[in-house]
Amino acid sequence: MDANTGFPLIVSTISGAIGYLATLWLIPRVSQQFVKIGLFGKDLSKRDKPIIPETIGAIPATIFILMMFCDIPILFYKDLLSIKEPAVVHFFPHRKLCEFLSAVLCLESILLLGIADDLFDLRWRHKFFLPAFAAIPLLVVYYVDFGVTTVTIPPFIYKIFSTFKPTTSAMITPFPQFIDLKWGYYAYMGCVSIFCPNSINILAGVNGLEVGQTIVLCIIFLINDGLFLINGINEASKHSHMMSAVLIIQLLGVSLALYHYNKFPAKVFVGDTFCYFAGMVFACCGILGHFSKTTLLFFLPQIFNFIYSVPQLFGLVPCPRHRMPKFNENDGLLYPSRANLLINEKGEAIRIKPIAKVMLKLLYLLRLIDLEFDEKNGEVKSCTNMTLINLILVWSGPLREDKLCQRILLIQFIIGLLAIVTRHVIGAFIFKHDNLWTII
Ligand code: UD1
Ligand code: MG
Repeated sequence: MDANTGFPLIVSTISGAIGYLATLWLIPRVSQQFVKIGLFGKDLSKRDKPIIPETIGAIPATIFILMMFCDIPILFYKDLLSIKEPAVVHFFPHRKLCEFLSAVLCLESILLLGIADDLFDLRWRHKFFLPAFAAIPLLVVYYVDFGVTTVTIPPFIYKIFSTFKPTTSAMITPFPQFIDLKWGYYAYMGCVSIFCPNSINILAGVNGLEVGQTIVLCIIFLINDGLFLINGINEASKHSHMMSAVLIIQLLGVSLALYHYNKFPAKVFVGDTFCYFAGMVFACCGILGHFSKTTLLFFLPQIFNFIYSVPQLFGLVPCPRHRMPKFNENDGLLYPSRANLLINEKGEAIRIKPIAKVMLKLLYLLRLIDLEFDEKNGEVKSCTNMTLINLILVWSGPLREDKLCQRILLIQFIIGLLAIVTRHVIGAFIFKHDNLWTII
């Protein structure tokens, strides 16, 4: 790695370290102010249900944005001062400033949305799509600066496809083959920016998990960025991944400090503010770094949690306000929490659709949920809430809160490493090409 590559990494590491120390210093000094203005929550998985300051994620998020402001004159100083070094292609030329500022704008917007959610407890269906608005600056800059909306078709699919079609002059276009998704690609990137923040927020409810999964994602993203920066075979991919590495190193710094206070037993809650903010940093990296498909690959545990949650999120199965595991005061362990299928949270009788019953029984047979049956008529009374957290408890039996968090983070880390291998080894074999190496 040359000095030119090292400079932005050194700057972001110093920024990340300052962000870490500032967050570590500030949280204990201001968290009681949050309680005073009503920003607190009860730690539901403890015996005495202590009152804990909430929305503390606003502190690392604000520090992160301030660090981004400070980065601008340092990272872009050569172009700002018009220092001309034609032989050296540096990573932060003036045209990149637009990308950088669009990320700042997007992250400021999501910070506002997160704080609004923590203040007013917005309804799930109202807040779900809002991150897409925050992502508009990113998508506009992507359109102007890069604008690539094509996806590569794996050669084997192309070959299968060509065997079924008569050969025409159009079929002998040289390989590789692409499909231009046009506006569909922008819709897809909008979906990534909706998904990343929300998916972190719904894989939550255990001390340390929201920040822990952010830290694991940071490590996975950094390994991937590092592979490109050290081994990338073209300059364009190195440039894309440098922007991502700079943002992620700083996110890692502030998140490590937040984790210090949020880990079991939590002294602060991060709030939806942090979940949205962290998710949006990853979406920014994926979109501006031109690897939004790989970004989703790194979110596999969150994707599983989301798909598994769909029946509850979209009302096929009742969804209680909290789906976090149930704390048992007698043994201090967490058990899978349940959704009552006969009575709702207001105490009214409910009936779930026959199709939902069939689906629940199928999931039960596959050991993907646990059902409680009425002893007299065999009717299904309740099901375990459909979250990855509860599923792990269904499979492993009750666990202490910190052990449960560690187990989920370990699974996430292993899946993340496998995703990197899949992306660069299996992906390279399928596409016969990767930006790290070419398969002949
Ligand atoms: C999401 C989940 C919800 C889960 C909640 C936990 C969906 C659709 N929503 O809702 O099921 O219960 O996150 O964050 O899946 N809390 C703890 N311990 C923790 C973290 C949070 O007890 O380690 C409790 C506190 O009472 C805190 C509250 O959860 O005040 C925060 O919940 P909130 O973030 O507002 O829930 P949602 O994000 O709406
Ligand atoms: Mg939340």
